[in-house]
Amino acid sequence: MAETTQGKSAAGRKVRKAVLPAAGLGTRFLPATKAQPKEMLTVVDKPQIQYVVEECAVSGIEHIIIVTGKGKNAIEDHFDYSPTLERFLEERGKIEQAAMVRKISDMVQVSYTRQKEPLGLGHAVLVARDLVGDEPFAVLLGDVLIPGPNPATKQLIDVYAATGVGAIAVEEVPKERTHLYGVIDGESAPQPPFGARLLRIRDVVEKPKPENAPSNLAITGRYVLPPQIFDCLARTKPGAGNEIQLTDALRILAQEDGLWAYIYDGASYDAGDKLGFLKATVEIALQNPEFGGEFREYLKGLNF
Ligand code: UTP
Repeated sequence: MAETTQGKSAAGRKVRKAVLPAAGLGTRFLPATKAQPKEMLTVVDKPQIQYVVEECAVSGIEHIIIVTGKGKNAIEDHFDYSPTLERFLEERGKIEQAAMVRKISDMVQVSYTRQKEPLGLGHAVLVARDLVGDEPFAVLLGDVLIPGPNPATKQLIDVYAATGVGAIAVEEVPKERTHLYGVIDGESAPQPPFGARLLRIRDVVEKPKPENAPSNLAITGRYVLPPQIFDCLARTKPGAGNEIQLTDALRILAQEDGLWAYIYDGASYDAGDKLGFLKATVEIALQNPEFGGEFREYLKGLNF
């Protein structure tokens, strides 16, 4: 794959930063999202975005940039210290709970920047440009959950570290559902240790009808990108709904600098969608060490 001079300077660099776009309006989840951010909707016992921040922390990310907007203050409060709550818990001997609350703020450094208008996912990434600077970075959608022991972001970081080329996570979806995703046109490019999971992206198509879809490999909300993506975004014209699509910029990046699709090990839940949210809730509740077994028995006993 071709590399620009800038790409070479960024290629050897560690992926230290992650951008979490969380400024969308969450219209698929109304009315729940009328007055609260969808990223703060709770899956079992944590807001969605905490799962995503935890994925960053276990993937070795040191600095997270959350892109927020109007009505999203609860996200900042959640990752801030909460002295009154901590003191309250400590005074009542609830030391473990106090420590758990403090740990949420201490996991990793978090900065915030605001997208003044929801002009699309691509635009949200672009507003983080100054905070990211000239280095590779991860992007994680704040409402896509990928539970499991092998974080998708870490898998992509490993691909970037080995190749110096950006990588996006893809997973197989039923052909009749391609119109819900960005879908890649890729050619097999196996190489150790990634094997057949690695594909070289020829093109990316946003929400194709099944008959026009170039594959059934859908983009699933995790990316590791070189800083050149910012130039690609700056050159991307607004598309449908006057939004700047990340997919359009990825197409330019793939053609100019190369881009991998990586069939990651795991499964994603779009928790910004009501059904996806329910599936994530059930899956994560079943894995809960405290009540997962009891919950399984409860589900088995339901008559349906
Ligand atoms: P979505 O399309 O899922 O978010 O974008 P949305 O626009 O809030 O959702 P609906 O379709 O109206 O229900 C994926 C991620 O990108 C962020 C969202 O917050 C979400 O985490 N996003 C989207 C932004 O930060 N800014 C935008 O302009 C659009």
